[in-house]
Amino acid sequence: MSASTPSKPGLSRRDFLHGAGVTAGAAALGAPASAVAAQPAAAEVPARGPGAIKLTLNVNGRNMQTSVEPRVTLLDALRNYLDVTGCKRVCDRGTCGACTVMLDGKPVYSCSMLAVEAEGKPIRTAESLYQDGKVDSVPAAFVAADAQQCGFCTPGFVVAMRAVLDAKPNATPAEIEHGLQGNICRCGTYEQMRDAIAALCQKR
Ligand code: FES
Ligand code: FES
Repeated sequence: MSASTPSKPGLSRRDFLHGAGVTAGAAALGAPASAVAAQPAAAEVPARGPGAIKLTLNVNGRNMQTSVEPRVTLLDALRNYLDVTGCKRVCDRGTCGACTVMLDGKPVYSCSMLAVEAEGKPIRTAESLYQDGKVDSVPAAFVAADAQQCGFCTPGFVVAMRAVLDAKPNATPAEIEHGLQGNICRCGTYEQMRDAIAALCQKR
C-alpha cells in the first residue's frame, strides 16, 4: 500500500522486484527467486515461435485456448486475446500492481511475465471474486468502505488481498497491508482501504 506502511518481515512483491533487478536477465519477474534459479538451461528448452503458438491457459477454472506470439505478456493475452479484462494495464512495467492476478495462488504482475510462462498453472483474476451472483468478502468490504475512486487499481488490490487471505485466513491487518505493498492507488484511497481491511478482520 502506501509508502508509510511499516516494514514487516517476509518478502513482498516490491522486495522481490528489487531482487529481480540484481538477478539481471531473469525473465519471470512474477516468479520467486528460487524458481528463477531453477530454470533449465536454454539448450534444454524447446524453441517455440517466433510466430503465433497455440496456448491453453486455465483462467478462473476454465481452460481457454488462444494463439499468441511467445513475446505476448500474460496481461495482453488475458485482456486482448481472451477478453478477461479485470486485470488492468496502468504502468505496464511492474510498478503499480493494477494488473495483479493470482498464478498458482500467488499474486503476480501479469504485465511482467509472458503468457507462455503461465501455461499449466491456475490463473485467478478479479472476475473470480464474483461467482454465481455472490460477491467475495474482499471486494464486498471495499464497496462497503467506499475504498475506490477511479477504480483502476481496485481489481489488483482485491486479488492481492484475496491471495493474502487464502494463504493465511487469520492474517492481521498489518500482514494484509504488507501483502499489498506491490499495489499503488494513485487516487489515494488508502484510508478507506484500511477501513475495509479492519472491517474484514473484525467479521472473522
Ligand atoms: S500494469 Fe502491471 S504493474 Fe502496473
Ligand atoms: S481508485 Fe483510482 S487509482 Fe486507486
